[in-house]
Amino acid sequence: MGRVLDVEDLHMTYAGGVHAVRGISFEVNQGESVAIIGSSGSGKSTVLRCINRLIEPTGGKIFLKGERINTPHTDVNDLRSRIGMVFQSFELFAHLRVLDNITLGLRHVKGMSKRDAEDEAMSVLERVDMLDRVGAYPGNLSGGQKQRVAIARALAMKPEVLLFDEPTSALDPELIGSVLETIRGLADEGMTMIVVTHEIGFARDVADRIIYMDQGVVAEEGPSSIINDPQTDRLKKFLSSLHEDGAVERENGE
Ligand SMILES: Nc1ncnc2c1ncn2[C@@H]1O[C@H](COP(=O)(O)OP(=O)(O)O)[C@@H](O)[C@H]1O
Ligand SMILES: [Mg+2]
Repeated sequence: MGRVLDVEDLHMTYAGGVHAVRGISFEVNQGESVAIIGSSGSGKSTVLRCINRLIEPTGGKIFLKGERINTPHTDVNDLRSRIGMVFQSFELFAHLRVLDNITLGLRHVKGMSKRDAEDEAMSVLERVDMLDRVGAYPGNLSGGQKQRVAIARALAMKPEVLLFDEPTSALDPELIGSVLETIRGLADEGMTMIVVTHEIGFARDVADRIIYMDQGVVAEEGPSSIINDPQTDRLKKFLSSLHEDGAVERENGE
């Protein structure tokens, strides 16, 4: 099992002085799905944004397949095609049809012909069960459908690792399940991924490993069994706060 990502002693202090990430280290192996959980403000999104170079970490090293990627010499466009990202808010282009949302990156970043890009787009749309909406505009899709298109767009670039930042937290409860099923399918197919999620039941069932973040550090890390058997007081407390609002019981969001 090869190493895909190596994060070493990552730090991020924002311009305003918030030290959001305070020395985080972890690795992700080929085919592994890692869930990052933790309360709001614990630094989860900051970690993903650093990995995808949306922001520059103020300290530490990140390696993709052994190659250091947080250097001034890194080709950011190339990097972003190797590390896909799916956001809570979908980030689709509202003025483009579903098909064109997907072909855009293939044509401009990968330099594919229109025909090849459309073939690839159709194949990824089939994987997320959106083939019947290729001609629709995002505004005419449900949130769950939009997110599946966003996942298809990321997949089309054939990323080496896919990052999900709370992919279901903007969705109505009845739409969460289809998106979680899509992500579970990718995990089953062996996609290497990091999923930041507050769907704890999903994390437990799908992730090979769980990272619990608190106040910018990894407070506990282990196999998915730590959800049922947390080893630290901090994770125990976090999980019991979730039990109060039922998030653990909600299997696959539905
Ligand atoms: N662009 C930013 N500028 C300043 N502070 C930020 C910025 N983004 C996030 N933060 C702060 O960094 C901390 C971690 O945020 P974030 O990584 O978004 O946490 P999470 O995703 O776990 O909710 C929070 O205190 C947040 O307010
Ligand atoms: Mg976040």
